[in-house]
Amino acid sequence: MEVLVPSRSLPVASVPDTLAVARDVVVPLLARGVIVRRPPVVGALARADADRRAVQLLQRLRRTYGTGPLRLPIPGRRAVLLLDPAHVHRVLAETPDPFTAATREKRAALGHFEPANVLVSSAEDRPVRRRFHEQALDTPHAVHRGADRLVAVIHAELDMLLGRVDATGVLDWDDWARTWMRIVRRLTLGDAAADDEQVTDDMVALRAAANWAFLRPRRRLLRRRLRESIARYAADPDPSSLLGWGASAIEPGTRVEDQVPQWLFAYDAAGWAMFRALALLATHPDHLADVRTEADGVDLRTPQRLPLLRATVLESLRLWPTTPAVLRETVRRTRFERGPVPEDTLVITYAPFFHRDDENLDSANRLDPTLWAHERTEADWPLIPFSAGPAGCPAQNVVLHTASTALARLVTERDLMLTGPAAEVLRPPADLPGTLDMFTLRFLVTPRTTAPVRA
Ligand code: HEM
Repeated sequence: MEVLVPSRSLPVASVPDTLAVARDVVVPLLARGVIVRRPPVVGALARADADRRAVQLLQRLRRTYGTGPLRLPIPGRRAVLLLDPAHVHRVLAETPDPFTAATREKRAALGHFEPANVLVSSAEDRPVRRRFHEQALDTPHAVHRGADRLVAVIHAELDMLLGRVDATGVLDWDDWARTWMRIVRRLTLGDAAADDEQVTDDMVALRAAANWAFLRPRRRLLRRRLRESIARYAADPDPSSLLGWGASAIEPGTRVEDQVPQWLFAYDAAGWAMFRALALLATHPDHLADVRTEADGVDLRTPQRLPLLRATVLESLRLWPTTPAVLRETVRRTRFERGPVPEDTLVITYAPFFHRDDENLDSANRLDPTLWAHERTEADWPLIPFSAGPAGCPAQNVVLHTASTALARLVTERDLMLTGPAAEVLRPPADLPGTLDMFTLRFLVTPRTTAPVRA
């Protein structure tokens, strides 16, 4: 009979290994900006392929210490690093108790612009706020119940973008970001917000302060102006905006002015994911041909599910996750197979480690849309660009629909050629880079030469 002898404590990383985690994982995360990205740092990290180094370090730690969780002896903060897929599934599924999403670090950062957001709410306040998001974002449905307008807004904005792009023959990040932020404002706050650049600028300024978390004083006047703007849109919501779709779920504890900034903030990441997906399509002609076959066969002016394009966006997010660190904190002592974790311990899942673990995932470093051919479950390797479980992203579906609708329009109507160094590093069969700077992607755009495939 096998005798199981429980070991009494988790493995502890040596001081040099803890410093290596600080150097290769924590410093790059903080330097690039957790809440708003700093373009020069993103560029420098891409040149150093920083995320690949981080993944290789965590692979070495797993070989040295086993599957953990691995305690990191950091002065002033108890912290463990997850190295085992089963632990990731467990921690995300058992949120908010014993693993709350409202970690000390997130409360300090998000406190700058949304201190009562669902992400940093207590277990008591969370349900009412989560309900509001799920109602507004139509969480369970691949195609939002307000998708007719979502599609119309995207096409109207892309008409204007393509008008500009056709004149210059070039699509770069600045062009794309301007269009994307208009789409985001119209979808979230309503058509009246289309030109409200103030609300975007206020968000950027507050997010820049939030990058410094505890270290920067709150910008109270700016925050008040943002709250007042959102309150104005919420007072008479455009019924076809996300705010309008959520209106019936507003209750006394919702604190809507603290929920909506998350939409503006997080839609930014969808713009990065979409632009990187465009770069993947421009450098993978076989995949582009499949995507065009999918999109050519349907009426893109009406809501479409487009599974292959959704999988392309998911691949962009797997390869270059926009939320690389998924953080939880224990609200009480809890036990793993190899030992207990005390209350008030930071639990770190570094998503790129699981997404790019070429010791376990054959296609870790290349484009593989088949990874998303079925709904991923706990039995699968954890690919968690949108996190998972009760605090997983409630906007996954609406994000994938928004991004795939925009991509479909661009790739069915235009040929896009990626220029510059990214064009070289993205071309198969070489491994895809661990870090990709979206701010310097640049495409030459011409009318499509191949005939559309009609169903
Ligand atoms: C590429 C785009 C996006 C990605 C990759 C993404 C990813 C994520 C992730 C990883 C989390 C969980 C964080 C954690 O567990 O600590 C999250 C939470 C959340 N996201 Fe997204 N997100 C995206 C866009 C959006 C958008 C556009 C919205 C709203 C319109 C949104 C709304 C939320 C909300 C409200 C939460 C908090 C959920 C909760 O705590 O219950 N996200 N997102």
